[in-house]
Formats: sequence, structure tokens, C-alpha cells
Amino acid sequence: MISDAWITTVFIHLPGAAEAVPAGQLIVKEEGARVLSSTFGYGKKYLERQKAAPIDPASLSLDGALSGKEQLYEPVNALVMFGAIRDAMPDAWGRRVIENKMKVEPNSLRESEYLMQSGTNRFGALDFRPSASSPAQSKALPDIADLPYLLEAADKVQNHEPVPQHLRQLFDAGPSMGGARPKAVVSYKGRAWLAKFDARDDAFDVPGIEQACLELARKCQLNVPETDIVTVASGKKVMLIERFDRELLPGGDFGRRHVVSALTMLGLHESESPKSSYAAIARRIAEIGTKNSVKADSEELFGRMVFNILVGNDDDHLRNHAFVWDATHRGWMLSPLYDVLPKPQQSSERFLHLSVGARGRLATLDNALSHAGQFGILPARAKEIVNRIAGEVREWRTFFESDMGLSTATCDKVASAFRKPSEIGG
Ligand SMILES: Nc1ncnc2c1ncn2[C@@H]1O[C@H](COP(=O)(O)OP(=O)(O)O)[C@@H](O)[C@H]1O
Ligand SMILES: [Mg+2]
Repeated sequence: MISDAWITTVFIHLPGAAEAVPAGQLIVKEEGARVLSSTFGYGKKYLERQKAAPIDPASLSLDGALSGKEQLYEPVNALVMFGAIRDAMPDAWGRRVIENKMKVEPNSLRESEYLMQSGTNRFGALDFRPSASSPAQSKALPDIADLPYLLEAADKVQNHEPVPQHLRQLFDAGPSMGGARPKAVVSYKGRAWLAKFDARDDAFDVPGIEQACLELARKCQLNVPETDIVTVASGKKVMLIERFDRELLPGGDFGRRHVVSALTMLGLHESESPKSSYAAIARRIAEIGTKNSVKADSEELFGRMVFNILVGNDDDHLRNHAFVWDATHRGWMLSPLYDVLPKPQQSSERFLHLSVGARGRLATLDNALSHAGQFGILPARAKEIVNRIAGEVREWRTFFESDMGLSTATCDKVASAFRKPSEIGG
């Protein structure tokens, strides 16, 4: 098969701006559905902008680019795609929506087609257009009142049935964000939210439990976006989480924050995620954080690891952690928390996805404490964080039932996910 080069202009919304500006040109060589290589060059005009942000912190640092020498970049670590570009692409769910729209088989499109078909409401501040003079696509978001239609369309996608004309809003609102679960982006209370739906084979009330778990994390003083639950006429629940990559501008438009996953920040391929660790993210925080953020972000990350151990969330891979560009201090901050779901389990020996401490991925509190030093946290402070979080999570059932309105039966279904601190070294 002959390889093709796909050339696109990468745009970015700079801080406070409703419109995006061209940042540079991306060339991706593809052979069928396979990507062979990528190159990127910053535009001269972009580099002259005072607010210019690095498009990809691992592969496209501005340090060399700002010297004025024109430079072509390739991704680090022999990757074929830049991580920041991959973060802006649809994942399993978004791909199924696009394939439904285009009436093609799963995973049969080129990466460039998935990228260009995923609409402009994508994760983060990047946008992709054929040329520097191409206009923006429509940024309109479906309203919360449209949720019943979005849910009906999402069911069709899950059942591999064509989505009828009157439900086609999902084609713009569905593929914008990554992840595998059914979802869409919506406008609610005049702000931008991610709406997460139930899935066909869910064993329990996933939207209700995910929201309760995020609210429990807030009680533990972790940094969580605003959440809500909406029940539509069919009785289905939808979890809403406010988008941390959007901000309402004074004129009523949305600004966009530049964000990348921890996978991108570490310059790794998806397959390398299980071999990585919380300590590796912490080391990166120390390198790319700002004077104001490193200490707080390291403690927050340590707290999230402890929380994941206690609530039994082992889906803590590197794309479920992210960083937000801080334009004022020119550094990266840990994003707010998202995608935390307890996983019911029988075995007493459990593991997280990422390595926790000296005993690898083993999900115990003493393992968490063993590497606190690698987060720059002193032993006494690490114990304080563990105690604070364990103290709240211990009361999860009362909180879920009394404050979050979940039924005893629903809580019973996830109870085995939660750990007793005393049984795991607490
Ligand atoms: N509150 C949020 N603001 C901005 N982006 C988010 C938010 N929550 C999730 N995301 C992005 O959307 C992706 C999918 O969401 P996630 O909750 O991880 O879904 P899934 O359960 O399908 O994995 C995440 O990987 C992240 O890039
Ligand atoms: Mg996820």
C-alpha cells in the first residue's frame, strides 16, 4: 500500500481568546489505518506571540523554537504521533460514533479521518483545519434539554444501529472527548459540561456511583470539578461534570484551556502506561510545575493515589490524569480529578494500574507511604494525608446513602470495592 501524507494546520485557543490562531503545520504519514510518522513545525508568527504555549510539553518544547531557527520536530520516544495531538482525538467511544455517522466498520478509518470528524468541541485548546485561512467549524453545544435525544442516539450507537436524522446532534457532541464509555458534551447553567451516560452492560448505577465517588473525593479535600446528576424521563441517570478545559469569557463565548494527558506529559505510548508510576508523574510535576503549584500538586497526586487505593479504582491509567497550561506562570498544573469509579472485587490482594510504591502496583497504604519521598512529601505529612482521606472514605456508605441519595441496594453492589484501612496497612 502506498503511504499518504496528510497535512493540517494546528490551531490553538490562546488564554482568554474565543477564537483560535494557527500555531503550526502537522504532517502525518499514514498507510491505511496505520500511522507511520509525524512531523510538526511551529509558524514564525505563532512563535512571536507573547502568549504562545508549547503544543506538546514532551515533544514540542518552545525553548529551541524561540531561538528563531526554523525547526521540524518529531515525537519523542520513537512515537509515531505527538501525544498532544492524540489527546485531542476521539477514543473508543468517539470512534464508534464517527463510524456510525460514516456507516463504516469499527477501526476502519485513518487516524486523520477520526481527527477531522470529531468536531471542534474536543478536549483542550487545539483545533485542526485544512489551512491557516480555513474558518472555524460550528462550536454550538447541545443543551441539557437535548439529553433524551443524545441518550437515544447513544443507545443506537451501542446497538450498532443507524442513528436517525432527528438524533444526529450526537455526531457533533459525541466524539469530542476521549474514553470508552458513552458520553457527549452539553451546555448547562450557561457552562460547558461532559455528560456521562450509562452503558449497555453496566452491572450497577455507574452515573450515580461515579458522581458520589467524585463528591466523596471532594470531602477528602481533593480538587474536583462541579458535578451533577440529571434523571431523564425514561428514568435513566446522566452524570455531569463541568469541563475544566473551558472557561466562560466576559462576552459569553467559551475560552479554552490547553490540556494534555499525563501520558503525553511523560512522552509515553499507551502500551507503556501500566509500567509507569505515580512517582514518575510526581517527578514530572517537579520539572514542569510552577513555583506556586509543585508542592500542592505533588500532595494532590499523592492524595489521589491513596483515594484510588481506598475506593478500589484501578482504572487510574495515564490518560485518566491530565495537566493544564498555566499561561500566567508558564508552567503546567495538575488538572482537577475525573473518571474515578470503584470496581467491585473479591480478592484481598489488589493492584492499581500505575505503580504505587516499593511493592509496585500493590494497592496498600503502607506501599503508598513507602515512596512518599519521591513526591517530595515528608513521612509525617504523608501520614496526615492518608489519615485525612481514610477518615472520610471509611464513612462512604453513610455519605452515599444519606447525602447522595443512593439506595442501599446500589451501595451493596459496589461495597466490595472499598477497603478497610486497617486491612491494607492503615
Ligand atoms: N471534567 C472534565 N473536563 C475536561 N475534560 C474531561 C473532564 N472529564 C474527563 N475529561 C476528558 O474526557 C476523557 C473521557 O472522560 P472519562 O471520564 O475519562 O471517560 P471514560 O469513563 O469513558 O474513560 C478524559 O480522558 C479526559 O481527557
Ligand atoms: Mg477515562
